[in-house]
Formats: sequence, structure tokens, C-alpha cells
Amino acid sequence: MSLSFNNLKFTKLEDDQITPYDLLLLADPLKELVDEYLEHSDIFIAINNDDIIGIIVLYPLSAVSVEIKNLAVKPELQGKGIGNYLIENAVKVAHTKGIKSICIGTANSSIGQLYLYQKHGFEITEIKRNFFIDNYPEIIMENGIQAKHMLVLTRQLDNI
Ligand code: ACO
Repeated sequence: MSLSFNNLKFTKLEDDQITPYDLLLLADPLKELVDEYLEHSDIFIAINNDDIIGIIVLYPLSAVSVEIKNLAVKPELQGKGIGNYLIENAVKVAHTKGIKSICIGTANSSIGQLYLYQKHGFEITEIKRNFFIDNYPEIIMENGIQAKHMLVLTRQLDNI
């Protein structure tokens, strides 16, 4: 599939559009959990030639803070900058709506994601110990490391 950033659109998923679970489940394998947060979230998608190729889900924590609950890019298009594009655009949208801080949680084993979020100005603000052991039925391994703890990273949006 050809990808040109000029053709890429960042837009809200409308209520009458089909929920792209293929993407959502890449970031979060538990559909029950996904459905719980989707109900209260704003879902944004990256579209290339009418094809949904990436997703980012913003869940309100308060009037001025949101959490990125889900972020995913089609496997065959990963590593081409779409993750960067989704984060940059989600930050812009949130800032426009008066949001002051955005957080995102990821596993201690998600090395690439930790790199990506810190590169976008997110800093580790909390560790939820044993989160992945307590909330997921299977052992999750990534990069040869067991996913045990959730690291929460936060970006303040005051200076953008
Ligand atoms: N390992 C190493 N580096 C990585 C990785 C990785 N797994 N993923 C991204 N990066 C780096 C890239 O090298 C790049 O660095 P650069 O800008 O300095 O060149 C940067 O991060 C951004 O890369 P993109 O190409 O924009 O990222 P991509 O389009 O691949 O999207 C994403 C990243 C969303 C994590 C994608 O790989 C994906 O869908 N993974 C599966 C689902 C997932 O793990 N989602 C996050 C779960 S946490 C949550 O949802 C809250």
C-alpha cells in the first residue's frame, strides 16, 4: 500500500463508522476492557485513501486532562512515522480543547513505545506495580521481558 503524508487525514471516528477492532486489539488484547473505555472516549483515526491505518483513543480523566488509552498502526505500515503523526495530531486537538495534560500507560517491557512517548515530551509520573499480572489472564512477554508493571507517562501541554 502506498503512503503519502499529503494524502493522510486525521479525523474523529463518527458514530456511524465501524469500530476498527483489528487496530484497537493490537494495542490492547482484552476486548472487554477496550469496550469499557471506548464508550466514554473520543476516537481519532488516520486515513490513507479511505483506509483506516492508525488509531488513537482519548479518554477524559477530568475537564483538563485526558489519557491516551489506545494507539495503534496497521502492522504493515508501522515504522513509517504514523505513530508520530497520530501523537502530534492528538496533542494538537487536545490543546485546542483546553486540555492541560495528557498521559499514557505502557508496560515496562514496551521499549519502543517508551522511546516514542519520551521523544514526544512524555515523562514517567507513576508506576502501577504488577498491573499486567493482576489484570491480564496470560503472561505477556515483549523484547524478552515480562510485562509486569504499567509505567504512566505524562505530558503537560502548557508550552506548545
Ligand atoms: N521499537 C523501537 N522503536 C520504535 C518502536 C519499536 N517497537 N515503535 C516505534 N519506534 C520508534 C521509531 O523508530 C520512531 O523513531 P524516530 O521518530 O526517532 O525515527 C518512533 O518510535 C516513531 O515511529 P513511528 O514509525 O511513527 O511509529 P509507528 O507508526 O510504528 O507506531 C506504534 C508506533 C503505535 C507503537 C505501533 O508500532 C503499533 O501499533 N504497535 C502495536 C500496538 C502498540 O503497542 N500500541 C501501543 C500500546 S500502549 C497504548 O496503546 C496506550
